[in-house]
Amino acid sequence: MKAIGSVEDFNSCIKRVIITKEEIDAAIKKAGKEIDRIYDGRPILLVSVLKGAFVFMADLCRAVSVPCHIGFMCAKSYYEGTTSSGVVKITMDLDQDVSKYHVVVVEDIIDTGRTLNDIVKLLKSRNPLSLHVVALLDKPSRRLVEFEADLALFTIPDHFVIGYGLDCAEYFRNLPYIAEYNQE
Ligand code: IMP
Ligand code: MG
Repeated sequence: MKAIGSVEDFNSCIKRVIITKEEIDAAIKKAGKEIDRIYDGRPILLVSVLKGAFVFMADLCRAVSVPCHIGFMCAKSYYEGTTSSGVVKITMDLDQDVSKYHVVVVEDIIDTGRTLNDIVKLLKSRNPLSLHVVALLDKPSRRLVEFEADLALFTIPDHFVIGYGLDCAEYFRNLPYIAEYNQE
């Protein structure tokens, strides 16, 4: 990670745009319709895991027409070496009782799969009426635990990506597109 002290430094980290704002908008519109079709008028709870999914959540919630509540949680997973201990530390929990909801987990990216695997396990232990996972991006080649989203909008190769909520050292979340990070 390069130190960022200027706009020039910031811009030099953006290697190339891999998914444009227009492509993201179109995919989210489609995903919203798919969610409407699945829930068929039933109310849902959209749960996003901070911080990476906040931009995706903001756009996805406006693309669905079923009645919805919004929830946020912050989670940290702990691992022993490279193996998940299965312990998720919730640094900020949901304020909803998920047993009353059809839950849709909204995540920015599935990489090794550990974070979502742990979060889904935790939420399921609280007996939601149902649970689906929607991910903006999927990097299946990086998977270390078996995990599949019910809906993944884009499958990407093993590149570190930034923008549209995704960061590198907390920068780049505000880019309106997804770009490959320049490692050099
Ligand atoms: P996992 O537990 O390995 O699936 O990682 C998921 C989390 O790692 C995501 O929610 C992101 O915050 C972060 N992450 C994984 N890949 C990338 C990337 O390419 N760019 C930015 N963040 C990433
Ligand atoms: Mg994240």
